[in-house]
Amino acid sequence: MVAGARPNFMKVAPIHKALSATKRYKPILLHTGQHYDEKMSKVFFDELGLPEPDIYLGVGSGSHAEQTAKIMVEFEKVLLKEVPDLVVVVGDVNSTLACSIVAAKLLVPVAHVEAGLRSFDRTMPEEINRLVTDAVSDLLFVSEPSGVYNLMKEGVPDEKIFFVGNVMIDSLVTHIPKANESKILDELGLKPKTYALVTLHRPSNVDEKESLEKILRVFEAISQKSKVVFPVHPRTRKMLEQFGLMEKASRIGALLIEPQGYIPFLKLMKEAQLVLTDSGGVQEETTVLQVPCLTMRENTERPITIEVGTNLLVGTDEKEVIDAALNVLNGKVKRGLIPEKWDGRAAERIVAHLDEIFKTWD
Ligand code: UD1
Ligand code: UDP
Repeated sequence: MVAGARPNFMKVAPIHKALSATKRYKPILLHTGQHYDEKMSKVFFDELGLPEPDIYLGVGSGSHAEQTAKIMVEFEKVLLKEVPDLVVVVGDVNSTLACSIVAAKLLVPVAHVEAGLRSFDRTMPEEINRLVTDAVSDLLFVSEPSGVYNLMKEGVPDEKIFFVGNVMIDSLVTHIPKANESKILDELGLKPKTYALVTLHRPSNVDEKESLEKILRVFEAISQKSKVVFPVHPRTRKMLEQFGLMEKASRIGALLIEPQGYIPFLKLMKEAQLVLTDSGGVQEETTVLQVPCLTMRENTERPITIEVGTNLLVGTDEKEVIDAALNVLNGKVKRGLIPEKWDGRAAERIVAHLDEIFKTWD
């Protein structure tokens, strides 16, 4: 099982637990080291009850080619030594792409969890990762109906596609009782439903000075009505520092904090008046928590969160984002329902399918 970056850990944990519980499988947990800061990696192992990785590649940051290539070189050595029956990859990060290609070339079957999602925007590095990973995967475990539809349209045979639901929501369901007890609001001096929680880390939002300045103006407008709470992703912090915008962000009155652990972050999401984000996972989690979410992107690969959930795609136009935020803060809130099979049992379904599939491989 491959994990590398923050959103992978919440997806891998329930599958690892479900596989281990059967005693029929011996999952080997491999961490590529794509994310390595304590607050982007180790904290999640502790909170999610994941064991230490069996194998740590320690590849670190780099350009897309550097990072992907380093993972591939190291992962190939691991596969040749371990000779597993199956490689499980999750999500759409560079670690997902790199390991699925290596496995496919060594003829080790690949299962992709969260398959079939498409933003149809190839300027997003993740879209390339999704397309390639799905193309080389043997088993495609899908979180929402659009995934099934997209894969079928791409010509993937029915028998490779399994609509199992959302493993990230398995983690949410397991950990929400603990999150309810979190003292993070007291620690930050916040009261429930009096703040807007923001996470932004997409290159299209944070890698240019103009986009970051626009975001700070959005913060300024929201601050008239609500406290902006902003756990800053390391990529975003690096860019804010590079453009000399950190001080300006604090002057506006936004509360800039370190990336949060999963438990405090769940609590922060649950009690927010509004969540403004460009994260994939946060769009899904806010839908389940029934918290209004505004997605600051031109597209989403998770349309169910809009069709059924509390998510609204607000684009990146400054005025539109501000208007949408003020609407929510003035009480115009989109209600939503929980998508099908986002019930905390997706990992269980994956294991049930694997049991059946392995019978046919023997
Ligand atoms: C990656 C994923 C993105 C995912 C995001 C989740 C790819 C192409 N991108 O983006 O899909 O949404 O993770 O958070 O796989 N850095 C640190 N410490 C860390 C990790 C990163 O300081 O522990 C800094 C480095 O300066 C690095 C930069 O963040 O260059 C970007 O990291 P990288 O893993 O390349 O991409 P993310 O933007 O984190
Ligand atoms: N998350 C977290 N702390 C934070 C921000 C996010 O624990 O400060 C969690 C969030 O609840 C979700 C996952 O990280 O489970 C999403 O990761 P991220 O936004 O980095 O990646 P994406 O989903 O966009 O790929």
